[in-house]
Amino acid sequence: MRVGILGSGLMGGKLGTLFARAGHEVVFSYARSKEKLKRLARDARGNARPDTPAEAAMDADAVLLAVHWLRVEDVLDQAGDLSGKVIVSCSLPMNARNTDLVIAHTSSGAEALAKMIPKARIVAAFNTVPSEVLFGVYEARRKTVRPSLVHCGGNSAGKQIVATLIHDVGFDPWTPAPCASLGYIEPFALLVAQLAYEGTDGPELAYRFERFGE
Ligand SMILES: NC(=O)c1ccc[n+]([C@@H]2O[C@H](COP(=O)([O-])OP(=O)(O)OC[C@H]3O[C@@H](n4cnc5c(N)ncnc54)[C@H](OP(=O)(O)O)[C@@H]3O)[C@@H](O)[C@H]2O)c1
Repeated sequence: MRVGILGSGLMGGKLGTLFARAGHEVVFSYARSKEKLKRLARDARGNARPDTPAEAAMDADAVLLAVHWLRVEDVLDQAGDLSGKVIVSCSLPMNARNTDLVIAHTSSGAEALAKMIPKARIVAAFNTVPSEVLFGVYEARRKTVRPSLVHCGGNSAGKQIVATLIHDVGFDPWTPAPCASLGYIEPFALLVAQLAYEGTDGPELAYRFERFGE
């Protein structure tokens, strides 16, 4: 596929590199320097090149949106017409200080994007938890009691694989059931981050979920 990367920072840079190495055609765009885009494309060692957001979006089979929520409007303006495209977004609707969601509970970043870009096919992905919030948890995993990491989803075979992966990297996998009510991934993602800091074991997480539901 041809994948346009809108925002070539931590997420866009890494994911674009993975896509290029998996054989896709990747266009890196939107960074503060052209040099950085060139370096990313060169280091990806695949079919990758640097260009503008408009070029990245043109003829793309899928577009990866990977900018801070405050930059979404700007990058979409530069990208031009994205109607009808598949847009995979990892842009969480966070405030400028990254301390809070600016959209939560009754809507989501994905829904807001869907309203901004007519007929686009929005996929909210890669936005489980910003990696930084888990640093404290990574340290705790060497302790006797493993920290819990919550995961959810509707596919039981998929969930089993996820549980194994979570266990292998040092956490105690924990899944809420049923999770159909967790319609909006973003508040859920932040809740998980908070629980990762504050929770001590599974039952406590379950208790906190009930309270959150109220
Ligand atoms: N990092 C995570 O673990 C993680 C996980 C899940 C979701 N997210 C979400 O994913 C999104 C991207 O996160 P990230 O960590 O990849 O952010 P990031 O590293 O800051 O990347 C943002 C990109 O936007 C570019 N940019 C910012 N201001 C610009 C401007 N004025 N003109 C041109 N380019 C500009 C940056 O340029 P430079 O490269 O020059 O800085 C960078 O390439 C955010 O919404 C975040 O909440 C992040």
